[in-house]
Amino acid sequence: MRHLALAFLVVFATQPAFAQPAAAVAPAAQVTAAPAPTLAEQEQFLRTARIVKTKGAKKGVTATQRATMSDGTLTHDASIQTVDISAARHETTRGTELNFRDFWGYNVAAYRLGLMLGLDSIPPSVARRYNAKEASYTWWIDDVIMDEQARTDNKTSPPDSAYWRAQNDIIRVFDALIANTDRNQGNVLIDKRWKVWMIDHTRAFRLTEEPKNPQAIVRCERSLFAKLKTLDKASLKAELDAHLSSFEMDALLKRRDVIVARIESLGPSAFYELRRPAATTPLRDTK
Ligand SMILES: Nc1ncnc2c1ncn2[C@@H]1O[C@H](COP(=O)(O)OP(=O)(O)O)[C@@H](O)[C@H]1O
Ligand SMILES: [Mg+2]
Repeated sequence: MRHLALAFLVVFATQPAFAQPAAAVAPAAQVTAAPAPTLAEQEQFLRTARIVKTKGAKKGVTATQRATMSDGTLTHDASIQTVDISAARHETTRGTELNFRDFWGYNVAAYRLGLMLGLDSIPPSVARRYNAKEASYTWWIDDVIMDEQARTDNKTSPPDSAYWRAQNDIIRVFDALIANTDRNQGNVLIDKRWKVWMIDHTRAFRLTEEPKNPQAIVRCERSLFAKLKTLDKASLKAELDAHLSSFEMDALLKRRDVIVARIESLGPSAFYELRRPAATTPLRDTK
């Protein structure tokens, strides 16, 4: 309920039709009072909360459902994907892909791998059945102001170019690692704090041992680099066995080796630390 209450307060506070005296509007402190759920709580919610209603997501091609869920206390949306397609050949606008796979389980794998790498820019995703089909349930990101498609179409400049670049260089390394063939601009979401989110990883984890374009990696976030080096078969198996094959893990580790060698060849100036702009913390609702 607290999030419903929060949503109401935000709508109420920003709705000119409710022309109330200022004193009647809830003070900002109440709007920020609800603590954000932890990742573990988000995962638990996605695994157990009841689906209240669903509708197809606006963009996209793989019949993603947007579901509103409730556990009686918290109400929040999730993206549900059931796609599970294997094809020897698949034609896309970018050419023919052999051994094509489009698989909901890669959403869960990408989230869990992101955690192993210390990334917090992939929304929690868990495995759970939907209408008797296996599926991923992914936390819906609130406060999205635009996706990368809209940003480039509207030529919107990020307010903090260093933060923007720092985040995008992480995406570049992550996509090379997971051999993501579908980082289209609808799969990069920007929230109102200009945090950049990665979604929709159903077309990743290819068996190619070479990253597609390692030269595109020109720098690497320092702690991401350290974590990349710690990945091994045992740790991948422990976290990702349910959704990745042994071959997919082996290929990932081969690509990791190439990526690490590429970054090391760039020298010490290739490392940087991701710093969140001070203005974005603590979180405030100033819409
Ligand atoms: N977790 C999410 N949070 C916010 N928006 C999302 C989320 N998942 C999907 N969307 C929105 O729905 C669209 C389609 O979903 P997506 O997962 O990309 O599926 P598709 O395979 O159909 O492209 C996205 O481009 C995005 O606008
Ligand atoms: Mg998509």
